[in-house]
Amino acid sequence: MTPELHRVIYCSRGDIARDPSRARGELQRILAISRKNNAAAGLSGALIFASGNFAQVLEGPRAALEARFERIQGDPRHRDIKVLEFTAVTAREFPDWSMAFAGDLTADQQDPLAFVVFAGAYAHRASGSSAAVLGLLHGLVQREDIWSFA
Ligand SMILES: Cc1cc2nc3c(=O)[nH]c(=O)nc-3n(C[C@H](O)[C@H](O)[C@H](O)COP(=O)(O)O)c2cc1C
Repeated sequence: MTPELHRVIYCSRGDIARDPSRARGELQRILAISRKNNAAAGLSGALIFASGNFAQVLEGPRAALEARFERIQGDPRHRDIKVLEFTAVTAREFPDWSMAFAGDLTADQQDPLAFVVFAGAYAHRASGSSAAVLGLLHGLVQREDIWSFA
């Protein structure tokens, strides 16, 4: 167990291009910098973009996590960031991923479950929604080979 291991789970409204091919380019850039920075800082996690929303799980040593999350919160490519969970944890949820990408749902691929999870995350209290986001990401990351482009 890493003593200072923490996890943040949040969702946000995406502010990226509406055009699918430009959106895809922006997502690729976000993923590329995320994988580089996170690997260097010992951070891991997963990200989804669906129905215009982001949800992300980011985990690792507390100081590195807080520093990177500060940067992420100030990123103009999303807004209305709602933190669903920030907590100490005993193990990582995505130990093998500097940043797994759970869905390129910019165009016609819309996951109904993702839609429901996002609606719930914004409408309800955070506690139940963090588990829902985690479950959604775990389920979709297993299908990563279908949707991965990065
Ligand atoms: C939804 C979203 C998730 C992001 N996740 C990460 C991440 O996990 N790690 C990361 O380094 N940057 C992430 N970024 C990009 C950061 O906001 C920032 O642009 C990047 O870390 C570069 O920061 P720097 O100027 O300090 O190098 C994310 C951006 C968005 C919009």
